[in-house]
Amino acid sequence: MSILIKNGRIITATDNYLADIFIEGETIQAIGQHLNMQASQVIDADGMLVFPGGIDPHVHLDMPFMGTFSSDNYETGTRAALHGGTTMVIDFILQKQGNSLRAALEEWQGRSNNNCVGDYSFHMAVTDFNDNTKAEVRDMIEQEGITSFKTFMAYKGALMIDDRQMVGLMQEVKKHGGLINVHATNGDMIDFLVAKHKSEGKLAPLYHYLSQPEVTEAEASGRFADMANYTGCPGYIVHLTCEGALNAVRMATRRNQKVFVETCIQYLILDASLYEKNFEGAKWVMSPPLRQPKDQETLWAGINQGLVQVVATDHCPFKWEQKLMGKDDFSKIPNGHPAIENRMELLYSEGVHKGRISLNKYVEVACTNPAKIFGMFPRKGTIAVGSDADIVLFDPNKKHTLSAKTHHMNVDYSGYEGWEVTGKVETVLLRGKVAIDKGECKIEKGYGKFIKRNKVKQTI
Ligand code: URP
Ligand code: ZN
Ligand code: ZN
Repeated sequence: MSILIKNGRIITATDNYLADIFIEGETIQAIGQHLNMQASQVIDADGMLVFPGGIDPHVHLDMPFMGTFSSDNYETGTRAALHGGTTMVIDFILQKQGNSLRAALEEWQGRSNNNCVGDYSFHMAVTDFNDNTKAEVRDMIEQEGITSFKTFMAYKGALMIDDRQMVGLMQEVKKHGGLINVHATNGDMIDFLVAKHKSEGKLAPLYHYLSQPEVTEAEASGRFADMANYTGCPGYIVHLTCEGALNAVRMATRRNQKVFVETCIQYLILDASLYEKNFEGAKWVMSPPLRQPKDQETLWAGINQGLVQVVATDHCPFKWEQKLMGKDDFSKIPNGHPAIENRMELLYSEGVHKGRISLNKYVEVACTNPAKIFGMFPRKGTIAVGSDADIVLFDPNKKHTLSAKTHHMNVDYSGYEGWEVTGKVETVLLRGKVAIDKGECKIEKGYGKFIKRNKVKQTI
C-alpha cells in the first residue's frame, strides 16, 4: 500500500513549506516538490495544512476512579482521538496500594489489548513505593518500554505518596533513565478544605473549586521541583493550571533546573465562572479545577516563553449519570472532563487562529514535544523521512460548532457545547493507513499499536 499526498503545506515544529509526501507501508519514504512516484492512492491536499499526528500524553480510558470507570474505553477513546487529529495517546496505569506494578500492568493490558483504534502507550502510576516496587522500575523501563512514572501528591488513601516515597522513587527512576510525572497539588491542604466546606454544609460544585486554591498547586509544584532538583531526576508536572505553580517552575529555572510542564486545553480557554452554574458546574469538576482569566494569560505566555512545553487534555470523561453521584456532595463528583477529540481543533482555533501562538508552536506543543519528552521522537511527532506516517490534513478555514450531538466520545454532554471553531480535521493517517476520512473512521479496533518508548532525555 502506498499513498501520495500532493500539494499540502507541511507544518512541523520548525518548518512551513509546500511539498508532497510519499508513504509506503507504515512510514514516510520521501518528501519533496512535484514527487512523481506511482502510488495506490493519491490525496489532494491543496489548501490544507499538513500536521504530524497529534499526541495527547494525558488521558484516562476505562479507568477505575472514584467508585466508577471513565466512560470512554480504549476503542471509543482512541477512535474519538483520531476524529480530532490525535493519532497517539498515553494513558495511565494505576498501581493498587499493596499490589505490584506488574499486576497493574496486566490489569490494564486486559482492558486495552486489541481494543485500541489509535496508537497508545502507558505511564505507570506508582501509588505505593517500597522495596518490591523499587525492584520493578528497571523492568518497566527496559522490558516494557514504559519510561515515565506518575505520582500523585493528592488523593490521599488511594493514590497519594508521601515525600519519602517520592524521593526514593526519583532516585530509582533516574538511575534507569526514566522520568517522573506528577499531579502536583497539596493533598493534605485540599483534604482539610474539603472537610471544612462539608462541615459548613457547602456542598455544591463551586466548593470543589474553593477547596483547591492556587496555593495548593503552587506549593506542591515548588516542592516537587525541589525534590527533582535534589535527586537530579527529570520531572514533568501534568495539568498545570495557574500563575503560582508556573512561577514555582520559573524559580527553578533560576538555579538552571529544567522541569517540564504540561497544561491542558481547558485551562487555557475555560475559567472558574463555570462553577457558578449550580450543579451543571459538575461537568467541569476536575482536579486541579479551572482557574481565573489571569491564569489563562499566564499559561499562553508560558507556552510562548517555552516554560510550558505540552498541551494535553487529561481526558477523563464521565457521563451525566455518573456526575450525579455527587449531586448532594461535591467531593463525590467523579473528577474529570472530556476533550480528547477537541484538543487539536480548539488549540488551533483559540491559539493559532486568534494569534496567540504560531503554527510552529502549535505543532511543537501538540505533537513534537510530547514525542520528544516521552521517548518516541522522531518515530512520532514530526513529518520526516523514516517517521511513522501519522499525518493530519487540516482545513484552516472551515468553521464548525462543537456539540455532544456530533462528537464521538462516549459521553452525553460536551464541555464545549456550541463553541464555534475555525479549522477542521479533514483526513487522518495512522501508520500509513487512512484512519479518518470526511468524518468517517476507516480502521477497526486492534489496529492501534502499543508503542514501546525509549529512555528519556533531560533536554528537548
Ligand atoms: O480531574 C481529573 N484530573 N481526573 C483525572 C485524574 C487526574 O487527577 O488526572
Ligand atoms: Zn491529576
Ligand atoms: Zn489525569
